[in-house]
Amino acid sequence: MTFYFGTNVKMHHTPTESKTFVTSLQQHACPSDVQRFYIPPFTSLGGLADETHASDIWIGAQNMHQADAGEFTGEIAAPMLTALNVDMVLLGHAERRQLFGETDQLLAQKITTALRHGLRPLLCVGENAAQRDAGEQVSVIREQLNTALMHAGNGHAILLAYEPVWAIGESGRPATVDDVLQPLRFIRDWLDSRFGEVHVPLLYGGSVNPNNCGGYAAIDGVDGVFVGRAARTPEGFYTTLTAAYASWKNNR
Ligand code: PGA
Repeated sequence: MTFYFGTNVKMHHTPTESKTFVTSLQQHACPSDVQRFYIPPFTSLGGLADETHASDIWIGAQNMHQADAGEFTGEIAAPMLTALNVDMVLLGHAERRQLFGETDQLLAQKITTALRHGLRPLLCVGENAAQRDAGEQVSVIREQLNTALMHAGNGHAILLAYEPVWAIGESGRPATVDDVLQPLRFIRDWLDSRFGEVHVPLLYGGSVNPNNCGGYAAIDGVDGVFVGRAARTPEGFYTTLTAAYASWKNNR
């Protein structure tokens, strides 16, 4: 079994800051059953290719267009990412869905493209506050999974993050373990019944920090945590990773 731990730094980190960040991660010893990943802005990806390709830290992009090339000003295609030795691509983050109108139909296309190019898609799903208050958590997530993963093949190379929208970012409320048990159980069962033999890693994200990460990592069926603000510095990354991994390990 592998424990997954990574951060999406959103619109933070210049190329120089990304290099410093990754160099610092490389200097910390990491247990062999931990897979770390770092998802910087596009502009940092080129500068990381050489250093990280030989190391055990996956580098990811924060988004990608579904076409391989074309007249799409301002967009980035999968072959451009693989040319930089990028390992994974984040798809369907709540901010992409909310602020940039990404739909599950679009994400299904992006996942197909990512898989065809050998990029590991990290798909985010999760309900917003109104949907939660209306008791629609599970039905919203089911619809997201059914649609976004409709062309996901046998599930190989896919990662899933459950990130309730109401728990993300500075205005978010960190979820209690009780808040997320049922949706995580639902997603774990959905993935297991859809993909069978292939174990799709399930991560939890949304205001994860060194104090609360252990609670999420201990939940049965959870394979890792996905962190924003708390892991934006190397120190924060390591403190949170250490606490989360210890809890995951103790509960397996
Ligand atoms: P946060 O971000 O940890 O800062 O809430 C999480 C995310 O957006 O994935």
